[in-house]
Amino acid sequence: MIVSPSILSADFLNLERDIKLLEKNGADFIHIDIMDGVFVANSTWGPSTVTAIRQITTLPLDVHLMINQPERLIEHYLATKADIITIHPESTVFLRKSLLKIKKYGAKVGVALKLETPVEMIKYCLDLVDIVLLLTCDEGFGGQNFQLLSLRKISQIAKWRQEHNLTFKIEVDGGIGPETGKLCKEAGADILVAGSYVFGKDIKTAIEVLKKV
Ligand code: DX5
Ligand code: ZN
Repeated sequence: MIVSPSILSADFLNLERDIKLLEKNGADFIHIDIMDGVFVANSTWGPSTVTAIRQITTLPLDVHLMINQPERLIEHYLATKADIITIHPESTVFLRKSLLKIKKYGAKVGVALKLETPVEMIKYCLDLVDIVLLLTCDEGFGGQNFQLLSLRKISQIAKWRQEHNLTFKIEVDGGIGPETGKLCKEAGADILVAGSYVFGKDIKTAIEVLKKV
């Protein structure tokens, strides 16, 4: 499995130290949740933080934009040289256009769904994306429980992927640990995002365990 630890659970006063620890201990990506306090009831960082993080790690930056009207800021996030930029269809009326813009600038394109959003909402852009991210708990905060209804969504997306010979990866985000990660893998997931699980214990062991679920 590809493991993308979420720095939402890092020590914000020691972000550099924690990101270097992730890098040293086998993280594949760094997952950065951008929240605007409107699309989700929490706020985190902006493009300048992503630019700063870019200076201290060579790991792919997996930027998950949980912001309203991401089209207003996509160019700023592209300028950070983040590797993956993921946006939500629930936050924009310019989904396809925004995905195409990310693609045009050479970043990997991700589309994400909140827990209760039906998978049909992204059915017609699956041909455009490199990653489908499914929130597997309620959005906005780390440390919440995985919701089993996600498994059906993963399976449906994996089924469409197979039927249409597509190659995007399926990323799951929220309440992921060894048991839930394994369930997601069996349903078709390729990338595990984990915040509280990775930072809640020995980082090295946690990443190793997730890679092998
Ligand atoms: C939730 C965020 C997640 C969060 C996951 O809205 O998108 O990336 O960090 O945290 P855990 O792994 O603690 O559920
Ligand atoms: Zn996320």
